[in-house]
Amino acid sequence: MSTSAEIAKPAAPPGFFQERVLTVHHWTERLFSFTCTRDPSFRFTAGQFAMIGLAVEGKPLVRAYSMVSPPWEEHLEFLSIKVQDGPLTSRLQHIVPGDHVLIGRKATGTLVTDNLVPGGVLWFFATGTGLAPFMSLIREPETYDRFERIILVHTVRQAAELAYRDLVAKELPAHELLGEIVAGKLTYIPSVTREPFGRTKRITTMIEDGSLTADLGLPPLSPERDRAMLCGSEAMNADIRALLEARGFEEGSNNNPGSYVVEKAFVTK
Ligand code: A2P
Repeated sequence: MSTSAEIAKPAAPPGFFQERVLTVHHWTERLFSFTCTRDPSFRFTAGQFAMIGLAVEGKPLVRAYSMVSPPWEEHLEFLSIKVQDGPLTSRLQHIVPGDHVLIGRKATGTLVTDNLVPGGVLWFFATGTGLAPFMSLIREPETYDRFERIILVHTVRQAAELAYRDLVAKELPAHELLGEIVAGKLTYIPSVTREPFGRTKRITTMIEDGSLTADLGLPPLSPERDRAMLCGSEAMNADIRALLEARGFEEGSNNNPGSYVVEKAFVTK
């Protein structure tokens, strides 16, 4: 028998699922996240993104969003900025449980472990909402099978923007299924650049001055031992890419795994 929510579900435009918003969490005035239902036929690999958004006057208004949730999770989760005059996020920030969102049927993206040579230390370098794909990857057991250690570096302007901080630092190491493997292999390095905090350096500065590795008692970054995934603003991606390439890192792609991969944290409006 259909529930009333199913009867009320609007028809999805071609290429999209119409999903129901389950929860919304506002982290700050600039940042929110939400969960929604997931069609059983929607498949993705940890680290990928899909086109997400709203039907506006019957037409899809969508942007690329990385899945925050891991592939094994029943629901989907996304992290978004709020821009008051942004075509999509000015609307999306007002969603409430029960509303409907569009989820593109096809997931894609370069931040997948297949695109990296396996082994060694895998670094996740994220600024702002660039954290999203790594939230999925750190909850995917295969990530831990392929690499000896995972180090997640997340830099934001203000501490309140360290989304999922408690989940990464506290809940995940205590998780009944993933806890043991996460506690032994995952290191979380939050950094806040515009107010007092334990760590206040940009990722680029930490790489340049060597403190990124030295603070953990590790040797300097090297493509023989280290792998990296980057997700942030265009400027951040370009700057870290240059630092990695100067150290001999080579970009990986679908048919040619390398020592680093990069993706924009897309949504800026
Ligand atoms: P900063 O505060 O020094 O600008 P944003 O919200 O502008 O995307 O920034 C998110 C975080 O990324 C901030 O901590 C910011 O540092 C940092 N950041 C911005 N641009 C770069 C860059 N080119 N390289 C490294 N970090 C950057």
